[in-house]
Amino acid sequence: MLSALCFGVMMMSSIECSMVQPEPKGYGSKFSISVPSNITVEAGLCVKVSCTFTYPPSTITEPYERVWFKGDPPNPFPEIEVIRLIYMLEPSERECSFILKDARKGRTDGEYGFMLKWGNNQHVFSETVHITVTGISSKPDMDIPPLTENQSDTLRCTAPGYCSGTTPTIKWKGKAVESFPYVIRQDVKETSNGAFIHESEFSLIFDSTYHNTVLTCMIVYMDDIITEQHVTLIVRYAPKIENGSKCSISEHLSTCVCISHGVPLPIITWPLGLTSQDYNMTTSVSDDTVTSTITTSAALLRGNDTVMCLSKNELGQASMTLTVNFTKRGEEDPLQGPGHCNLPWTLASLSVTLNGFLFLGLFLLVVAWKRSKAVTGKEESQTYSSLAKRDESVYDTISQRP
Ligand SMILES: *[C@@H]1O[C@H](CO)[C@@H](O)[C@H](O)[C@H]1NC(C)=O
Ligand SMILES: *[C@@H]1O[C@H](CO)[C@@H](O)[C@H](O)[C@H]1NC(C)=O
Ligand SMILES: *[C@@H]1O[C@H](CO)[C@@H](O)[C@H](O)[C@H]1NC(C)=O
Ligand SMILES: *[C@@H]1O[C@H](CO)[C@@H](O)[C@H](O)[C@H]1NC(C)=O
Ligand SMILES: *[C@@H]1O[C@H](CO)[C@@H](O)[C@H](O)[C@H]1NC(C)=O
Ligand SMILES: *[C@@H]1O[C@H](CO)[C@@H](O)[C@H](O)[C@H]1NC(C)=O
Repeated sequence: MLSALCFGVMMMSSIECSMVQPEPKGYGSKFSISVPSNITVEAGLCVKVSCTFTYPPSTITEPYERVWFKGDPPNPFPEIEVIRLIYMLEPSERECSFILKDARKGRTDGEYGFMLKWGNNQHVFSETVHITVTGISSKPDMDIPPLTENQSDTLRCTAPGYCSGTTPTIKWKGKAVESFPYVIRQDVKETSNGAFIHESEFSLIFDSTYHNTVLTCMIVYMDDIITEQHVTLIVRYAPKIENGSKCSISEHLSTCVCISHGVPLPIITWPLGLTSQDYNMTTSVSDDTVTSTITTSAALLRGNDTVMCLSKNELGQASMTLTVNFTKRGEEDPLQGPGHCNLPWTLASLSVTLNGFLFLGLFLLVVAWKRSKAVTGKEESQTYSSLAKRDESVYDTISQRP
């Protein structure tokens, strides 16, 4: 109180402030108060109410006490803190600003009055402040930098409200917090104008599996007042070529399909050594995946030929060498006997006649190995897509896509 008084005096005349500073003459000929009559505050947050008053110095003797009360005048509870909020007071004005922390419905809302006490006297101002507490609608602010794979990035979440009340709990939720070593640091910063900023920082080395996952920041005030914000993470990553990429040959045409995903979307090229008249190329895009298909005559790309698929974006590139393989005959030509459907056996018998027993053994080994590879790859990609789907549906209504 003294500091506020001193401050007021200092504003008026830059003389040194001391506790025995004499009251300036000729101001505040009557009691008056300037304060908003109705104020709304969100549950969990705090409210600072700015207020000034004047008084007739002839009536009041120093020192006097400034008291905010809820309900009827003598009521000392809850104790309400008078704070300094206004920096430019008129010479006749004194400050009666106050702060209510940890707002809660049914407890903080009500009628607040102000009075001055000096000696055995008091003056109750007739104006009151009506405080209404609403549910919390402010959301935390999530600060997400552009994320890149293999790089450690720090995400920040700031709680709404700039209060010195009970420290809220800041929680993170999402795949990024479940699976990998990460660092979380919660902090409170006081700004030069007396605001308190509660924030949490979250650091992680991101990889492509975090792309498109939802990260949530949840703020909990006083155990049960909750507000949260969601962000769908965008992780930039170098292209990857999917195992489903392949080349096949039928009677007249050879077809190569290259499937690649990356962020930003990769561009697929085929360093074929063919002129553009020799082949047709089609490209389709679905989310972060590009599928490039080239078709050319079977005379230009023959069985066992190898073709390279190259996928690039600004973060890097990937390539895969595809061998032109025979299409399963059974799918295209039902007239062929069932024996021809089984490609490994067709190939195997050819191998026997051409290259002898040693080649057969080797070939079967290769076939078996490639098959097991193909199966693992397929299972992996299915798991991934079903996971991605589930994420999507759970967060459908809340995710934000920029
Ligand atoms: C303030 O709130 C009270 C109670 O909700 C209401 O009766 C009154 O009209 C409001 N006054 C103003 C100025 O908004
Ligand atoms: C492709 O298969 C290999 C070997 O099984 C595996 O290491 C790789 O992760 C797979 N790639 C993709 C994109 O599924
Ligand atoms: C490319 O497509 C055009 C039109 O569809 C067709 O006439 C041409 O034969 C195709 N070329 C090759 C190499 O497939
Ligand atoms: C290469 O392809 C031919 C058919 O075009 C086939 O007879 C032969 O077995 C294949 N060679 C190898 C090593 O796979
Ligand atoms: C991240 O690391 C993987 C594995 O070392 C690498 O293949 C990829 O290109 C890297 N990505 C970037 C953007 O450097
Ligand atoms: C050719 O296709 C068969 C069956 O689709 C597969 O088992 C084999 O690994 C493929 N070979 C190559 C070289 O891609």
